[in-house]
Amino acid sequence: MTKQVIRTAVFPVAGRGTRFLPATKASPKEMLPVVDKPLIQYAVEEAVAAGARRLIFVTGASKRAIEDHFDKDAELEHLLDSQGKAELAELVRGVLPKDATCVYIRQPEPLGLGHAVLCAQPVVGDEPFFVHLADDLIDADLPCLKQMANVYKQKGGSVLGVEEVPRTDTDKYGIVETKGVSAKIARIHGIVEKPKPAVAPSNLAVVGRYVLTPRIFKHLEKIGQGAGGEIQLTDGIARLMREQSIYAYRFEGKRYDCGSKLGYLQATVEYGLNHNSLGASFREYLQALMAANPPAVAAPRVAARKSATRKKA
Ligand code: G1P
Repeated sequence: MTKQVIRTAVFPVAGRGTRFLPATKASPKEMLPVVDKPLIQYAVEEAVAAGARRLIFVTGASKRAIEDHFDKDAELEHLLDSQGKAELAELVRGVLPKDATCVYIRQPEPLGLGHAVLCAQPVVGDEPFFVHLADDLIDADLPCLKQMANVYKQKGGSVLGVEEVPRTDTDKYGIVETKGVSAKIARIHGIVEKPKPAVAPSNLAVVGRYVLTPRIFKHLEKIGQGAGGEIQLTDGIARLMREQSIYAYRFEGKRYDCGSKLGYLQATVEYGLNHNSLGASFREYLQALMAANPPAVAAPRVAARKSATRKKA
């Protein structure tokens, strides 16, 4: 298989984020900030670090804030410059590299992740591309998509970012079956969307990172509704696997499921602790809070914990 440079990233951002209502009633879940950057900006930065310069957002209702975020805001830049806030003005200008292009495609109906990816086909064309799900925030020394681009360079086929999850959670993910179970890169022999723990082929779950060859579109065009009545990317990948090698890659880094309230809070705390200017004082605050009030922090109300850890709404 010929290996092309990957210059396109697709961000499916049409979901309504019902688990974060009412915060997400009028504002996209991808605009939820972790400390001082929205999730979608972490996503774009990761894709750009991996070489993508064509950024395709598959959007839906109430998502205009994403377009505004990546648009040039001359008025704000001018205001910050005139107030002598050069650093902030640079931050605003640097939201997107100058050589990157954003394309917004509307997904007319919420028919599933596979359908969202298919909506990007006219812009992606006949090239390999990244798919990035902004809910899955991955903190890594080498950005996860960059690691996966390296695997693609080495192997030449589609690559799925995977990690082990508790057996009880297989019905929240696409689950892969590989031969070299513990290998860092392993060819997949099967993939199934959200299997019940009893029938799951493994506990190796696909997280929201994919390198896909353009052949995926041929399959996405043909598949019908799958798990949850949606057109599933996983089902397209299962068909693609019959004609091309696909690899599962255990990425290096820590994933936060920012689609769940608990995962989002964990990301907020850990990114806060690692923040350049805030980290030290935030750590002091947390230590003082724990020392002053250990039982309240250590034993949250059971009802609150249950709703926070549930991945799917
Ligand atoms: C989607 C995919 C699933 C994948 C997951 C990763 O599911 O369909 O295969 O494992 O993202 O977060 P969703 O969480 O959108 O239901």
